[in-house]
Amino acid sequence: MSARIRKAVFPVAGLGTRFLPATKTVPKEMLPIIDRPLIQYAVDEAIEAGCDTLVFVTNRYKHAVADYFDKAYELEQKLERSGKTEQLELVRNVLPEGVRAVFVTQAEALGLGHAVLCAKAVIGDEPFAVLLPDDLIWNRGPGALKQMADAAEASGASVIAVQDVPREQTASYGIVATEGFAKRQGRIRAIVEKPKPEDAPSNLAVVGRYVLNPRIFSLLESTTPGAGGEIQLTDAIAALLEEEAVNAYRFQGTRFDCGTHIGLIEATIRYALDHEKLSDSARQLMQNALAELGVEELN
Ligand code: UTP
Repeated sequence: MSARIRKAVFPVAGLGTRFLPATKTVPKEMLPIIDRPLIQYAVDEAIEAGCDTLVFVTNRYKHAVADYFDKAYELEQKLERSGKTEQLELVRNVLPEGVRAVFVTQAEALGLGHAVLCAKAVIGDEPFAVLLPDDLIWNRGPGALKQMADAAEASGASVIAVQDVPREQTASYGIVATEGFAKRQGRIRAIVEKPKPEDAPSNLAVVGRYVLNPRIFSLLESTTPGAGGEIQLTDAIAALLEEEAVNAYRFQGTRFDCGTHIGLIEATIRYALDHEKLSDSARQLMQNALAELGVEELN
């Protein structure tokens, strides 16, 4: 592989049932952390990693994602006329110049693997990234995808983000077994989707960042429905590692599972406490709330 990734796929065609009723009309990826939707954090991470072509795999109900990245002429004109330059910049910089957004429809929610396959024609024959925006990864240094893209470029292998999870949670993740780690990387021996704790080969869980060799597309084409009746990306990765090296990468950073209620709350608290303008009042507000509820002060 040994090439720098330029294209990133954002599979955002899931139904987001865990956030119903909000997700009846607001796609999960448009839920905000402070003032930016989840999808924006993922897009920024992909651009930082060097991607200039962003492929959004959406469904026919998710106009909000396309609208968000479209130019908002009337809004921009209004902000310009009223001299609101700071806000105007925010609206204009949703996608920087030189970065293009491509939208592909997944007609039916047949699974993450199927969603990635829908991007095949746009990706072509080059390594690419996949980012699941509901996995929000916070890091003071380089973003998780940048770390992985560097590793993939150096090794020429596909790279998958992993993190250690408590054993009782393995049934919520793809789980990998590796040949041991050198620094942050280890070659994957096996990968299984959502194993019960007693069947899991380890407690190293796959999280939503991948750098993949385009060979994955032909493997996805022959992947049959797996766990949950869905075409699983994990199953195609299992086939890929039969043919070539695929590395697990323990990225540096904190991951928030914003596909769950508590993960979204946790991310909001963390980003508020780290926010240059909001941190003091957020901290005060949390202390007040805990005091009101009779909980001792925060340390
Ligand atoms: P999830 O397992 O989180 O499913 O999908 P979901 O539908 O988004 O949310 P819940 O579980 O119903 O609350 C993981 C990722 O794969 C995408 C989702 O959009 C999400 O980014 N996905 C999943 C698709 O794009 N298409 C699918 O058919 C399934």
